[in-house]
Amino acid sequence: MIGPGPARAIRRRWSWGSVRYRAVSKYYITTPIYYVKDAPHVGHAYTTVNADALARWHRLIGDDVFFLTGTDEHGQKVARAAEEQGLAPKAWTDQLAPRFASAWAELNIANDDFIRTTEPRHAGAVQHFLSQINDNGYIFKDTYRGLYCVSCEQYYGEDELVGGGLCPIHRTPVEHLEEENYFFRLSAFEQKLIDWYEANPTAVVPESKRNEALSFIKGGLRDISITRTSIDWGVRVPWDDRHVFYVWYDALINYLTAIGYGQDEGRFETWWPAVHHLIGKEIIRFHCVWWPAMCMAAGIEPPAHVQVHGWLLLGGEKMSNSSVNQIAPGDLVAEYGVDPVRYHLLRDIPLGSDGEFSAEGIVSRYNSDLANNLGNLLSRVATVVGSKCEGTGPAPSSDSRLASIAATVVAEATQAWNAGQPNLALEATWRLIRETNAELEKAEPWKAEPGPAVDSVLGSALEVLRIVSILVVPAMPASAEEIWRRIGLEGSPAEQRLPEAGIWGGYPGGRPVEKAAPLFPRRKV
Ligand code: MSP
Repeated sequence: MIGPGPARAIRRRWSWGSVRYRAVSKYYITTPIYYVKDAPHVGHAYTTVNADALARWHRLIGDDVFFLTGTDEHGQKVARAAEEQGLAPKAWTDQLAPRFASAWAELNIANDDFIRTTEPRHAGAVQHFLSQINDNGYIFKDTYRGLYCVSCEQYYGEDELVGGGLCPIHRTPVEHLEEENYFFRLSAFEQKLIDWYEANPTAVVPESKRNEALSFIKGGLRDISITRTSIDWGVRVPWDDRHVFYVWYDALINYLTAIGYGQDEGRFETWWPAVHHLIGKEIIRFHCVWWPAMCMAAGIEPPAHVQVHGWLLLGGEKMSNSSVNQIAPGDLVAEYGVDPVRYHLLRDIPLGSDGEFSAEGIVSRYNSDLANNLGNLLSRVATVVGSKCEGTGPAPSSDSRLASIAATVVAEATQAWNAGQPNLALEATWRLIRETNAELEKAEPWKAEPGPAVDSVLGSALEVLRIVSILVVPAMPASAEEIWRRIGLEGSPAEQRLPEAGIWGGYPGGRPVEKAAPLFPRRKV
């Protein structure tokens, strides 16, 4: 979980006789919706894989999960990209949106919905939301004169530019815009936002990003222009159809459209405001300043949680559509396999920090953690069960030293996943794997005569593999299934429920253990 809040507040434990029940929590997680300016790259995949892993974790602990991703299809940036291809914007986005969906399928992303802002359901929600804000008196008309970066789809003040008039993110020239616009009275929300952030100290994590949002608010908020007449690629303003909404204003509302805002109040209230927005650090202002103010203006609660992450860098630069340094997720999957790519993204670039992406990084993590540790544990256990136990896995022993290490690791991994820190959760999980390999090396069951001592060591290693396959479901769902199957278990690790399934002693023994090709053969850099 990303900080405590309403979702967690409804998670209660209570007893009725000797049976303990846990109320099901709602967990609504979103990625930013990606611009369909170009094909998806590994930077987009970074957010999506993290959101998917968090969604899978919450399913494992029994939460009711709704995981949303999608595409942001309006605005000048997309319209220009289409024009460059000689296509109408809708024809262009119809080509590009499925490429995002298929990249996510290649990465084994299990989103519950995929929203496109060009869908009719979205136009309806945007118009309803903005009409509420208009009715509440927070919209007015004026002329806008300002500097605009099309790549950011954002206005900048002179003082924010770098290098003599360049956008601070893209380092490209900004454009001068002047037109009659509708404005959102953002300035009316300065104190309300400050009060809200003070009452909700973990609404934005990490804390440094919360402070960044708060100091921007405290610096004074200017009203913002929210419509355009210079382009018509957008959602029409319901009370003045010469205008379309500014792309960011339309885009943020996707988070409401997908849960039935303005259509199905019951469904909407099920998921809102206990949402977890996972975003990159360049869009804090939109999500942590504008968006909560827009919600307040429309008369709904601001989003409960925003988790901000850093950038995936290539050669020290942010991987992005506007630069040449992009890598397609599908190319990586073809080269390294889906689970190793997911594992690397989750394990090596902690949510919240920037991280350098490199082929060497993937391969060295793959060899150390997957080939030499997890894969090696599985292979050697299967081999020795084959030679000493006729291929039938023995039951674990209750007094194994590994039992207490497993209990600590399950607790630590749980805490880390709940705090939105996949790298720490995986680090803890790998400690259990390493300890088990060390235990096997000490006991050397491959040299011993078959009997109770060998059974006890192998049974405990199989129990570790059972627990590990559950703990790695969020990161490597397909590998988790394969380990589960090879050690003779029925059903699927993803169907298990924590914390119950993490308790030592669940491996039943008497199951056929399959000796097969290495799950993660070693790779050369
Ligand atoms: N369309 C807006 C978001 C609207 S949300 C209501 C947008 N789109 S984007 O295509 O530019 O995607 C931005 C997001 O993609 C980032 O916030 C981040 O989640 C992800 N990333 C894109 N490049 C990335 C990296 N190089 N590194 C990490 N995340 C990256 O902004």
